Amino acid sequence: MDRDLYLHETFGCDDPVLTRILERMKERDMPPISVLPSLGRLLTLLVKTAGAERVLEIGALGGYSGVCLARGLGKDGTLTSLELSPTFAEFARSNLAEAGFAEQVRYRVGPAISSLASLVLEGARFDFVFIDADKPNYANYLEYALQMALPGTLICADNVLLGDRILDSANQDASVVGMRTFVQRLTSNHRLESVGLPIGDGFAIARVAR
Ligand SMILES: C[S@@+](CC[C@H](N)C(=O)[O-])C[C@H]1O[C@@H](n2cnc3c(N)ncnc32)[C@H](O)[C@@H]1O
Repeated sequence: MDRDLYLHETFGCDDPVLTRILERMKERDMPPISVLPSLGRLLTLLVKTAGAERVLEIGALGGYSGVCLARGLGKDGTLTSLELSPTFAEFARSNLAEAGFAEQVRYRVGPAISSLASLVLEGARFDFVFIDADKPNYANYLEYALQMALPGTLICADNVLLGDRILDSANQDASVVGMRTFVQRLTSNHRLESVGLPIGDGFAIARVAR
């Protein structure tokens, strides 16, 4: 048994609701790029531990991470999820509804940059942000997240290692450049305390100063 399987089995990461979402995604030929089960559990724990009530997710896909985030909310908490594809957003909505979160989740469809600009204009505030969409825009998403963050808000991001491509300083691919910019801004912002973890494809957690 390898270490990932050991941790997966020992910490009970098998979950019928989430497994069903993955099966349906496969039936629909959707890309298998949801967060790993262990990262999903970490998201639930982080939302719960932070006591977050207004969660923003950028990149919904099939709703896998959405269910994990929503599970961390109290009964009055809400999840706002941004997704480019109307088909994915509708599918994610149905999965969140089946998981019991129909009343707590709202989807905004279209380029996340436009949805974020609208949320800023509406005066939205979030106490937990999960960034997991197109990599070239991560730094832009961070800027918007900071505009809507409250003191103590957690800002998390998946894929910060980009399959280790981030380690090659000569790589000028748009995703790599975008991720480098994001990490540089995250780690140099005096309002943020941050850590990068080697879980999955690399996971960053930052907390906005109080
Ligand atoms: C890695 S997947 C998200 C996985 C999801 N967070 C999960 O773990 O279940 C990235 C998602 O971001 C969406 N996306 C890509 N570019 C986007 C954009 N410009 N605006 C909003 N969503 C975008 C994709 O359609 C895809 O569903």
